[in-house]
Amino acid sequence: MSSNGNTQKRSLRSAAWLNEPGSPDQTAIYLERYLNFGLTREELQSGKPIIGIAQTGSDLAPCNRHHLTLAQRLKDGIRDAGGIPLEFPVHPIHEMGKRPTAALDRNLATMGLIEVLYGYPLDGVILTTGCDKTTPATLMAAAAVDIPTIVYSGGPMLNGWQGDKRVGSGSIIWECREKYAAGDIDYENFMDQVSSSAPSAGHCNTMGTALTMNSLAEALGMSLPGCAAIPGPYRERAQMGYFTGRRIVEMVWEDLKPSDIMTKASFYNAMRVCTAIGGSTNAPPHIQAIANHLRDVDININDWQTHGEKTPLIVNCQPAGEYLGEEFHRAGGVPAVMGELIKAGVIDTKVLTVTGKSVGDIYTSSASKDHDVIKTYDQPMMENAGFAIMSGNLFDSALMKKSVIDDDFRNTYLSNPESPNCFTVRAIVFEGPEDYHHRINDADLDIDQHCILIIRNCGPVGYPGSAEVVNMLPPDRLVKQGITCLPTMGDGRQSGTSGSPSILNISPEAAVGGGLAHIKNNDLICIDLNTNQVNLLIDEQEFARRKDNIQLITVVNQTPWQEIYRSRVNQLSEGGTLQTEGDYTRIAKTHGIPRNSH
Ligand code: FES
Ligand code: MG
Repeated sequence: MSSNGNTQKRSLRSAAWLNEPGSPDQTAIYLERYLNFGLTREELQSGKPIIGIAQTGSDLAPCNRHHLTLAQRLKDGIRDAGGIPLEFPVHPIHEMGKRPTAALDRNLATMGLIEVLYGYPLDGVILTTGCDKTTPATLMAAAAVDIPTIVYSGGPMLNGWQGDKRVGSGSIIWECREKYAAGDIDYENFMDQVSSSAPSAGHCNTMGTALTMNSLAEALGMSLPGCAAIPGPYRERAQMGYFTGRRIVEMVWEDLKPSDIMTKASFYNAMRVCTAIGGSTNAPPHIQAIANHLRDVDININDWQTHGEKTPLIVNCQPAGEYLGEEFHRAGGVPAVMGELIKAGVIDTKVLTVTGKSVGDIYTSSASKDHDVIKTYDQPMMENAGFAIMSGNLFDSALMKKSVIDDDFRNTYLSNPESPNCFTVRAIVFEGPEDYHHRINDADLDIDQHCILIIRNCGPVGYPGSAEVVNMLPPDRLVKQGITCLPTMGDGRQSGTSGSPSILNISPEAAVGGGLAHIKNNDLICIDLNTNQVNLLIDEQEFARRKDNIQLITVVNQTPWQEIYRSRVNQLSEGGTLQTEGDYTRIAKTHGIPRNSH
């Protein structure tokens, strides 16, 4: 189909608002107020695509704040391609700023954006993404409404530096917490070191959840090639904005929608890319959540094992490696990763991308430009580096990120010649982060290297929203002896920037009666990475007794949204999305144009 603006175009959904033949009274009502800031009737009634810019940046969402200026390049591209841009705000989601959790707001932003995309005269939309949950939140909404959509990331911050040492956002916090606990640095030093990781506009520069989710959006086919990794301040970032603006107008004419691009095969591709980049443990719930908003994309947590586990880690970025966003971009970013995986034959090359071309067309000739940063498939940083999907007598599923298991952990827990990859630990249970901080240094707990730190009531219902708290530091006493990592486990999440091989995202969570609720201090737990099993070693009668006497925590809802969210949210293994009854997929088509409001 033509994209040069000359041929006769199909009729657009925005015409139902702005140019509906036979109902001048309604058209006038919609039209007149869009004129009041200077748009003309000619622009709005000439059949040009109206393109929404879903603006996630604000002073409250600093990781995405530079989208406020980048939006100009999106608009330039839209205009040059013959479209009309209309920018609007998305409910802010800032990972670090929002209490009790940003996770609580992901679905809220999605619900808000669904209403906007469906209820306003929009023919296509650019999703401005960046900070962790802004990418899944906006993609979930666009998937549900299913109008032409393209993802435009704001990109990572520049590298942080201290002398000649790279300082990665998030990762430096975990490192400095250890130094502070060991008494090696003081408060001023702690603050200075952590701040040095954020030298410019952009999202986290590590391969945390933000860079992971934007890389996976690209792997899914939802952004232009190369978009994910370009650092926020680079000129290519704004140039990518211009191309993105141009492309969405073409996509409207081609009627190229999320449901044409995000198929089961593209999700399997994304799972493999997630392993190859050493992606965040937050990816599985977010990826599941996006799939939940599409029709006929039936994926589940076990697919990560089937399709992601055997892939090697090839990207050398923190927390699994040493580099940051700038090197990842220069080494070729997601296109290079896709190229390596295509060469190895593990990517479905037929799936479509927002370019209108297939993954194979776009990425087959891409390769790493720096093998120190992006390795080859055959000489990776680690083989079989995907998430282990754990289960056992305490829960149906949990994740363990194998690519961050370091030599210390391996030598201490996984190298017993009699039971390789298998260890038994003594449980120390915390009822949430407050309890953990209050009691972790309590000598009576007698915590040593044979313990596992367990945190519960931190899932979607219990927290609410699921908190990033599972990567707990051992007591100061052990940290001072150089023991900086104990096994941990919990029904919350952990930051994608954390290098801890925790057992996390445990589903079902304790607050809904999950098995974590039954554990007591000093219980023994056996963890077997050969079979991916976690089992409480307990007499069956005693286990039955505890199940009969289970006491769930009481959570007081503090806001109306918390009440709605907690009453409808599913578990992390299911994406932590809201359970609804109607058909809310392909909404624009399924339910047609909404009724007039006057
Ligand atoms: Fe926003 Fe990491 S906190 S991207
Ligand atoms: Mg995070």
